[in-house]
Amino acid sequence: MSTVYSKAFEATQCETALPSAAGMIIRQKEPANLESPLHVVNSFVTPSDLFYVRSHFKAPELTTTSYRLRIHGAVENTLNLDYQQLTELPSETRMATLECAGNGRVFLVPQAEGTQWELGAVGNAWWAGVPWRVLLEQAGLSRNAREVVFQGADRGTPKEQPIPPGPISYARSLPLATAVRPDVLVVYEMNGRELSQDHGYPVRLVVPGHYGMASVKWLTSIHVVEEPFQGYRQTIDYGYWDYIDGIPVRRPLSEMEVKSQIAHPSIYEVIPAGSVYIVTGAAWSGKTDVSEVELSTDGGQHWTAAELVDPAQQHAWRRWRFAWNVPLASGRYTLMARARDANGAVQPKAHDPSHGSYVINHTLPIDAIVR
Ligand code: MTE
Repeated sequence: MSTVYSKAFEATQCETALPSAAGMIIRQKEPANLESPLHVVNSFVTPSDLFYVRSHFKAPELTTTSYRLRIHGAVENTLNLDYQQLTELPSETRMATLECAGNGRVFLVPQAEGTQWELGAVGNAWWAGVPWRVLLEQAGLSRNAREVVFQGADRGTPKEQPIPPGPISYARSLPLATAVRPDVLVVYEMNGRELSQDHGYPVRLVVPGHYGMASVKWLTSIHVVEEPFQGYRQTIDYGYWDYIDGIPVRRPLSEMEVKSQIAHPSIYEVIPAGSVYIVTGAAWSGKTDVSEVELSTDGGQHWTAAELVDPAQQHAWRRWRFAWNVPLASGRYTLMARARDANGAVQPKAHDPSHGSYVINHTLPIDAIVR
Protein backbone atom coordinates (compact mmCIF):
# COMPACT_ATOMS: atom_id res chain seq x y z
CA MET A 1 0.00 0.00 0.00
CA SER A 2 1.41 3.44 -0.88
CA THR A 3 2.24 5.60 2.16
CA VAL A 4 -0.01 8.37 0.83
CA TYR A 5 -3.05 6.21 1.37
CA SER A 6 -2.00 3.90 4.19
CA LYS A 7 -2.71 6.47 6.94
CA ALA A 8 -6.15 7.35 5.62
CA PHE A 9 -6.83 3.64 5.08
CA GLU A 10 -6.05 2.79 8.72
CA ALA A 11 -8.16 5.69 9.95
CA THR A 12 -11.27 4.32 8.26
CA GLN A 13 -10.72 0.64 9.09
CA CYS A 14 -12.64 0.84 12.36
CA GLU A 15 -15.66 2.00 10.35
CA THR A 16 -15.88 -1.23 8.38
CA ALA A 17 -17.13 -3.27 11.37
CA LEU A 18 -20.48 -4.83 10.47
CA PRO A 19 -23.60 -3.47 12.13
CA SER A 20 -25.04 -6.50 13.94
CA ALA A 21 -28.49 -6.61 12.31
CA ALA A 22 -27.41 -5.84 8.75
CA GLY A 23 -27.93 -8.08 5.75
CA MET A 24 -28.32 -7.67 2.02
CA ILE A 25 -31.50 -7.12 0.01
CA ILE A 26 -31.84 -9.82 -2.63
CA ARG A 27 -32.83 -8.69 -6.14
CA GLN A 28 -31.85 -11.91 -7.92
CA LYS A 29 -30.58 -15.24 -6.61
CA GLU A 30 -28.59 -16.48 -9.63
CA PRO A 31 -26.63 -14.63 -10.86
CA ALA A 32 -26.33 -12.88 -7.50
CA ASN A 33 -27.68 -9.35 -7.52
CA LEU A 34 -27.73 -7.90 -4.05
CA GLU A 35 -28.45 -4.46 -2.76
CA SER A 36 -26.93 -2.72 0.29
CA PRO A 37 -29.35 -1.86 3.10
CA LEU A 38 -28.39 1.84 2.98
CA HIS A 39 -30.63 2.77 5.90
CA VAL A 40 -28.51 0.47 8.11
CA VAL A 41 -25.03 1.04 6.64
CA ASN A 42 -24.10 4.61 7.43
CA SER A 43 -20.30 4.27 7.52
CA PHE A 44 -18.01 6.26 5.23
CA VAL A 45 -16.45 2.99 4.06
CA THR A 46 -19.01 0.38 3.08
CA PRO A 47 -18.10 -2.98 4.67
CA SER A 48 -17.26 -5.45 1.87
CA ASP A 49 -19.95 -7.90 3.03
CA LEU A 50 -22.58 -5.16 2.67
CA PHE A 51 -21.33 -3.74 -0.62
CA TYR A 52 -23.85 -4.21 -3.44
CA VAL A 53 -23.28 -7.03 -5.94
CA ARG A 54 -24.18 -6.59 -9.61
CA SER A 55 -23.41 -9.62 -11.81
CA HIS A 56 -24.85 -10.41 -15.23
CA PHE A 57 -23.68 -14.03 -15.36
CA LYS A 58 -22.87 -16.66 -12.75
CA ALA A 59 -19.61 -15.81 -10.94
CA PRO A 60 -16.76 -17.93 -12.38
CA GLU A 61 -14.74 -20.02 -9.93
CA LEU A 62 -11.18 -18.79 -10.41
CA THR A 63 -8.20 -19.64 -8.21
CA THR A 64 -5.00 -17.73 -7.58
CA THR A 65 -2.94 -20.76 -8.64
CA SER A 66 -4.49 -21.11 -12.07
CA TYR A 67 -5.12 -17.37 -12.56
CA ARG A 68 -3.55 -15.71 -15.63
CA LEU A 69 -3.92 -12.16 -16.93
CA ARG A 70 -3.27 -11.86 -20.65
CA ILE A 71 -2.32 -8.44 -22.03
CA HIS A 72 -2.32 -8.52 -25.81
CA GLY A 73 -3.31 -6.85 -29.09
CA ALA A 74 -1.73 -3.56 -30.13
CA VAL A 75 1.20 -3.87 -27.71
CA GLU A 76 4.91 -4.45 -28.25
CA ASN A 77 5.11 -7.38 -25.80
CA THR A 78 2.26 -9.75 -25.06
CA LEU A 79 2.17 -10.43 -21.31
CA ASN A 80 0.83 -13.46 -19.50
CA LEU A 81 1.03 -12.74 -15.77
CA ASP A 82 0.21 -15.14 -12.98
CA TYR A 83 -1.27 -13.96 -9.69
CA GLN A 84 2.06 -13.80 -7.89
CA GLN A 85 3.75 -11.81 -10.66
CA LEU A 86 0.86 -9.37 -10.61
CA THR A 87 0.85 -8.87 -6.84
CA GLU A 88 4.63 -8.31 -6.79
CA LEU A 89 4.32 -5.23 -9.00
CA PRO A 90 4.13 -1.70 -7.51
CA SER A 91 0.65 -1.20 -6.06
CA GLU A 92 -1.62 1.65 -4.96
CA THR A 93 -4.58 1.82 -2.60
CA ARG A 94 -7.36 4.22 -3.49
CA MET A 95 -10.84 4.94 -2.27
CA ALA A 96 -13.66 4.96 -4.81
CA THR A 97 -17.43 5.07 -4.75
CA LEU A 98 -18.99 2.66 -7.24
CA GLU A 99 -22.58 3.17 -8.31
CA CYS A 100 -24.40 0.82 -10.65
CA ALA A 101 -25.77 2.85 -13.58
CA GLY A 102 -29.22 1.34 -12.85
CA ASN A 103 -29.25 2.35 -9.18
CA GLY A 104 -32.64 3.91 -8.34
CA ARG A 105 -34.42 2.32 -11.35
CA VAL A 106 -37.46 1.54 -9.21
CA PHE A 107 -38.18 5.30 -9.14
CA LEU A 108 -38.72 5.49 -12.92
CA VAL A 109 -42.33 6.05 -13.99
CA PRO A 110 -43.53 4.22 -16.03
CA GLN A 111 -41.66 1.26 -14.63
CA ALA A 112 -38.53 0.39 -16.65
CA GLU A 113 -37.34 -3.12 -17.44
CA GLY A 114 -34.32 -4.45 -15.59
CA THR A 115 -33.35 -5.10 -11.99
CA GLN A 116 -35.54 -2.97 -9.74
CA TRP A 117 -32.78 -1.35 -7.68
CA GLU A 118 -33.88 0.99 -4.93
CA LEU A 119 -31.11 3.16 -3.45
CA GLY A 120 -28.53 0.56 -2.42
CA ALA A 121 -26.64 -0.23 -5.64
CA VAL A 122 -23.87 2.09 -4.50
CA GLY A 123 -21.00 1.82 -2.02
CA ASN A 124 -17.66 3.34 -1.09
CA ALA A 125 -14.58 1.16 -0.57
CA TRP A 126 -10.79 0.97 -0.54
CA TRP A 127 -9.32 -0.78 -3.55
CA ALA A 128 -5.70 -1.98 -3.80
CA GLY A 129 -3.90 -3.17 -6.90
CA VAL A 130 -1.56 -2.39 -9.74
CA PRO A 131 -2.18 0.78 -11.76
CA TRP A 132 -2.97 -0.34 -15.30
CA ARG A 133 -0.33 2.03 -16.61
CA VAL A 134 2.37 0.09 -14.74
CA LEU A 135 1.36 -2.98 -16.78
CA LEU A 136 1.17 -0.88 -19.90
CA GLU A 137 4.76 0.28 -19.43
CA GLN A 138 5.80 -3.40 -19.49
CA ALA A 139 3.66 -4.23 -22.50
CA GLY A 140 4.47 -1.08 -24.51
CA LEU A 141 1.86 0.46 -26.82
CA SER A 142 1.82 0.08 -30.59
CA ARG A 143 1.50 3.29 -32.57
CA ASN A 144 -2.10 2.65 -33.65
CA ALA A 145 -3.43 1.67 -30.22
CA ARG A 146 -6.76 3.34 -29.56
CA GLU A 147 -8.77 1.69 -26.79
CA VAL A 148 -8.28 -0.91 -24.09
CA VAL A 149 -10.82 -3.74 -23.78
CA PHE A 150 -11.08 -5.31 -20.32
CA GLN A 151 -12.73 -8.74 -20.29
CA GLY A 152 -13.98 -10.89 -17.46
CA ALA A 153 -13.98 -14.69 -17.24
CA ASP A 154 -17.77 -14.86 -16.76
CA ARG A 155 -19.81 -15.95 -19.76
CA GLY A 156 -23.46 -16.26 -20.65
CA THR A 157 -26.27 -15.17 -22.93
CA PRO A 158 -27.60 -11.71 -22.10
CA LYS A 159 -31.33 -11.02 -21.78
CA GLU A 160 -31.55 -7.54 -23.28
CA GLN A 161 -32.62 -7.42 -26.96
CA PRO A 162 -31.08 -7.85 -29.50
CA ILE A 163 -29.71 -11.09 -28.06
CA PRO A 164 -26.39 -12.22 -29.58
CA PRO A 165 -26.35 -15.66 -31.28
CA GLY A 166 -24.16 -17.32 -28.63
CA PRO A 167 -22.72 -16.79 -25.14
CA ILE A 168 -20.55 -13.73 -24.62
CA SER A 169 -18.07 -12.59 -21.97
CA TYR A 170 -18.52 -9.42 -19.97
CA ALA A 171 -16.27 -6.81 -21.65
CA ARG A 172 -15.93 -3.03 -21.56
CA SER A 173 -13.41 -0.70 -23.14
CA LEU A 174 -11.80 2.55 -22.04
CA PRO A 175 -10.29 5.15 -24.34
CA LEU A 176 -6.49 5.23 -23.93
CA ALA A 177 -6.54 8.63 -22.21
CA THR A 178 -8.81 7.25 -19.44
CA ALA A 179 -7.07 3.89 -19.17
CA VAL A 180 -3.67 5.46 -18.42
CA ARG A 181 -4.99 7.56 -15.52
CA PRO A 182 -2.94 6.65 -12.42
CA ASP A 183 -6.07 5.70 -10.47
CA VAL A 184 -7.29 3.01 -12.91
CA LEU A 185 -6.34 -0.07 -10.94
CA VAL A 186 -6.07 -3.80 -11.60
CA VAL A 187 -7.35 -4.66 -8.13
CA TYR A 188 -6.79 -7.70 -5.89
CA GLU A 189 -7.89 -6.26 -2.51
CA MET A 190 -11.05 -4.58 -1.26
CA ASN A 191 -11.04 -2.89 2.16
CA GLY A 192 -7.71 -4.55 3.02
CA ARG A 193 -8.77 -8.14 2.23
CA GLU A 194 -8.74 -10.29 -0.90
CA LEU A 195 -11.78 -9.77 -3.12
CA SER A 196 -14.78 -11.98 -2.46
CA GLN A 197 -15.98 -14.18 -5.31
CA ASP A 198 -18.98 -11.91 -5.94
CA HIS A 199 -16.76 -8.83 -6.12
CA GLY A 200 -14.42 -10.34 -8.74
CA TYR A 201 -11.98 -12.72 -7.01
CA PRO A 202 -9.10 -12.86 -7.56
CA VAL A 203 -8.62 -9.78 -9.78
CA ARG A 204 -10.87 -7.02 -11.13
CA LEU A 205 -10.58 -3.59 -12.65
CA VAL A 206 -11.65 -0.46 -10.76
CA VAL A 207 -12.24 2.76 -12.69
CA PRO A 208 -12.84 5.49 -10.08
CA GLY A 209 -15.46 8.04 -11.09
CA HIS A 210 -17.14 5.79 -13.68
CA TYR A 211 -20.42 3.95 -13.24
CA GLY A 212 -19.77 0.47 -11.86
CA MET A 213 -20.13 -1.27 -15.23
CA ALA A 214 -16.61 -0.08 -16.17
CA SER A 215 -15.02 -1.94 -13.25
CA VAL A 216 -14.78 -5.37 -14.89
CA LYS A 217 -14.71 -8.27 -12.42
CA TRP A 218 -12.86 -11.62 -12.80
CA LEU A 219 -10.47 -9.79 -15.15
CA THR A 220 -8.46 -12.24 -17.29
CA SER A 221 -7.85 -10.42 -20.58
CA ILE A 222 -6.77 -6.90 -21.45
CA HIS A 223 -6.84 -6.36 -25.19
CA VAL A 224 -5.44 -3.15 -26.69
CA VAL A 225 -7.38 -2.48 -29.90
CA GLU A 226 -6.93 -0.19 -32.90
CA GLU A 227 -10.65 0.44 -33.56
CA PRO A 228 -13.36 1.80 -31.23
CA PHE A 229 -14.79 -1.21 -29.40
CA GLN A 230 -18.50 -1.78 -30.11
CA GLY A 231 -19.13 -4.56 -27.59
CA TYR A 232 -22.57 -5.52 -26.28
CA ARG A 233 -22.07 -3.91 -22.84
CA GLN A 234 -21.36 -0.50 -24.27
CA THR A 235 -23.71 -0.26 -27.20
CA ILE A 236 -26.86 -2.35 -26.64
CA ASP A 237 -26.43 -2.30 -22.85
CA TYR A 238 -24.82 0.47 -20.76
CA GLY A 239 -25.03 2.94 -23.63
CA TYR A 240 -27.00 6.16 -24.11
CA TRP A 241 -28.23 8.28 -27.00
CA ASP A 242 -26.14 11.24 -28.00
CA TYR A 243 -26.79 13.46 -31.02
CA ILE A 244 -24.43 14.43 -33.85
CA ASP A 245 -26.05 17.20 -35.86
CA GLY A 246 -29.46 15.93 -34.77
CA ILE A 247 -28.67 12.30 -35.64
CA PRO A 248 -28.89 9.93 -32.67
CA VAL A 249 -25.78 7.81 -32.00
CA ARG A 250 -25.05 5.25 -29.27
CA ARG A 251 -22.24 6.08 -26.85
CA PRO A 252 -20.94 4.10 -23.88
CA LEU A 253 -21.87 5.36 -20.41
CA SER A 254 -18.84 6.56 -18.50
CA GLU A 255 -18.53 8.98 -15.55
CA MET A 256 -21.11 9.12 -12.77
CA GLU A 257 -23.33 12.20 -12.82
CA VAL A 258 -23.68 14.25 -9.63
CA LYS A 259 -26.17 12.63 -7.25
CA SER A 260 -27.30 12.63 -3.64
CA GLN A 261 -29.45 10.10 -1.86
CA ILE A 262 -31.43 10.09 1.34
CA ALA A 263 -30.61 7.12 3.57
CA HIS A 264 -32.75 8.26 6.53
CA PRO A 265 -35.69 8.39 6.62
CA SER A 266 -36.41 5.30 4.55
CA ILE A 267 -39.51 5.26 2.37
CA TYR A 268 -42.76 5.69 4.37
CA GLU A 269 -40.85 5.81 7.65
CA VAL A 270 -43.12 7.09 10.42
CA ILE A 271 -41.69 10.18 12.12
CA PRO A 272 -43.07 11.79 15.32
CA ALA A 273 -44.76 15.17 14.67
CA GLY A 274 -42.98 18.08 16.34
CA SER A 275 -39.68 16.19 16.77
CA VAL A 276 -36.22 17.07 15.42
CA TYR A 277 -35.30 14.35 12.94
CA ILE A 278 -31.75 13.98 11.57
CA VAL A 279 -32.06 13.36 7.84
CA THR A 280 -28.89 11.68 6.52
CA GLY A 281 -27.50 10.58 3.19
CA ALA A 282 -24.52 10.62 0.86
CA ALA A 283 -23.62 12.47 -2.35
CA TRP A 284 -21.07 11.80 -5.08
CA SER A 285 -19.99 12.85 -8.55
CA GLY A 286 -17.68 11.00 -10.92
CA LYS A 287 -16.32 14.15 -12.49
CA THR A 288 -15.27 16.30 -9.54
CA ASP A 289 -16.00 16.91 -5.84
CA VAL A 290 -19.47 17.41 -4.44
CA SER A 291 -19.53 20.98 -3.11
CA GLU A 292 -23.04 21.36 -1.73
CA VAL A 293 -26.13 19.36 -0.75
CA GLU A 294 -29.55 20.90 -0.16
CA LEU A 295 -32.67 19.36 1.26
CA SER A 296 -36.34 19.96 0.56
CA THR A 297 -39.08 18.68 2.86
CA ASP A 298 -41.94 19.95 0.69
CA GLY A 299 -41.48 18.05 -2.56
CA GLY A 300 -38.92 20.42 -4.06
CA GLN A 301 -40.57 23.82 -3.49
CA HIS A 302 -38.04 25.12 -0.94
CA TRP A 303 -34.43 24.07 -0.42
CA THR A 304 -32.07 24.50 2.57
CA ALA A 305 -28.36 23.66 2.77
CA ALA A 306 -27.47 20.40 4.50
CA GLU A 307 -24.23 19.93 6.47
CA LEU A 308 -21.49 17.94 4.69
CA VAL A 309 -20.08 15.38 7.14
CA ASP A 310 -17.05 14.04 5.22
CA PRO A 311 -14.30 16.18 3.70
CA ALA A 312 -14.05 16.27 -0.09
CA GLN A 313 -11.90 13.36 -1.27
CA GLN A 314 -11.51 12.57 -4.93
CA HIS A 315 -13.89 9.83 -6.10
CA ALA A 316 -15.29 9.13 -2.61
CA TRP A 317 -18.81 10.01 -1.57
CA ARG A 318 -19.53 12.68 1.04
CA ARG A 319 -22.09 11.92 3.68
CA TRP A 320 -24.35 14.77 4.78
CA ARG A 321 -26.95 15.50 7.49
CA PHE A 322 -29.84 17.86 8.02
CA ALA A 323 -31.75 18.58 11.25
CA TRP A 324 -35.41 18.66 10.25
CA ASN A 325 -37.85 20.46 12.53
CA VAL A 326 -40.71 18.08 11.83
CA PRO A 327 -44.06 19.93 11.53
CA LEU A 328 -46.86 19.36 14.03
CA ALA A 329 -49.34 18.69 11.23
CA SER A 330 -49.50 14.98 10.50
CA GLY A 331 -49.48 13.76 6.90
CA ARG A 332 -47.21 12.64 4.09
CA TYR A 333 -44.10 14.76 3.46
CA THR A 334 -41.90 14.41 0.38
CA LEU A 335 -38.20 14.79 1.12
CA MET A 336 -35.65 15.38 -1.66
CA ALA A 337 -31.90 15.90 -1.65
CA ARG A 338 -30.08 17.85 -4.35
CA ALA A 339 -26.29 17.95 -4.82
CA ARG A 340 -24.12 20.37 -6.73
CA ASP A 341 -20.56 19.58 -7.77
CA ALA A 342 -17.46 21.78 -8.04
CA ASN A 343 -18.11 22.24 -11.79
CA GLY A 344 -21.51 23.77 -10.94
CA ALA A 345 -23.49 20.73 -12.19
CA VAL A 346 -26.73 20.25 -10.23
CA GLN A 347 -29.03 17.24 -10.12
CA PRO A 348 -31.88 17.65 -12.60
CA LYS A 349 -35.58 17.59 -11.66
CA ALA A 350 -36.45 14.79 -14.07
CA HIS A 351 -34.84 11.72 -15.60
CA ASP A 352 -33.18 12.26 -18.98
CA PRO A 353 -34.83 9.77 -21.39
CA SER A 354 -31.72 9.64 -23.61
CA HIS A 355 -30.20 7.52 -20.81
CA GLY A 356 -32.93 4.87 -21.01
CA SER A 357 -33.19 3.05 -17.70
CA TYR A 358 -29.72 4.21 -16.58
CA VAL A 359 -28.23 7.34 -14.94
CA ILE A 360 -31.07 7.93 -12.49
CA ASN A 361 -29.64 11.07 -10.90
CA HIS A 362 -32.69 13.31 -10.79
CA THR A 363 -33.93 14.40 -7.35
CA LEU A 364 -35.68 11.34 -5.96
CA PRO A 365 -38.79 11.75 -3.79
CA ILE A 366 -38.64 10.01 -0.41
CA ASP A 367 -42.05 10.09 1.28
CA ALA A 368 -42.14 10.07 5.07
CA ILE A 369 -45.25 9.83 7.25
CA VAL A 370 -45.49 12.38 10.04
CA ARG A 371 -47.81 11.28 12.83
N1 MTE B 1 -17.71 -7.51 -14.46
C1 MTE B 1 -18.05 -8.72 -14.94
N2 MTE B 1 -17.06 -9.52 -15.38
N3 MTE B 1 -19.33 -9.14 -14.98
C2 MTE B 1 -20.36 -8.32 -14.55
O1 MTE B 1 -21.53 -8.73 -14.60
N4 MTE B 1 -20.98 -6.13 -13.63
C3 MTE B 1 -20.58 -4.73 -13.70
C4 MTE B 1 -19.22 -4.51 -13.06
N5 MTE B 1 -18.29 -5.49 -13.52
C5 MTE B 1 -20.03 -7.04 -14.06
C6 MTE B 1 -18.66 -6.68 -14.02
C7 MTE B 1 -21.52 -3.84 -13.08
S1 MTE B 1 -22.90 -3.49 -14.00
C8 MTE B 1 -21.29 -3.25 -11.88
S2 MTE B 1 -22.35 -2.07 -11.29
C9 MTE B 1 -20.13 -3.60 -11.06
O2 MTE B 1 -19.36 -4.62 -11.66
C10 MTE B 1 -20.56 -4.07 -9.70
O3 MTE B 1 -19.46 -4.43 -8.94
P1 MTE B 1 -19.72 -5.21 -7.57
O4 MTE B 1 -20.60 -6.37 -7.84
O5 MTE B 1 -18.39 -5.57 -7.02
O6 MTE B 1 -20.41 -4.19 -6.67
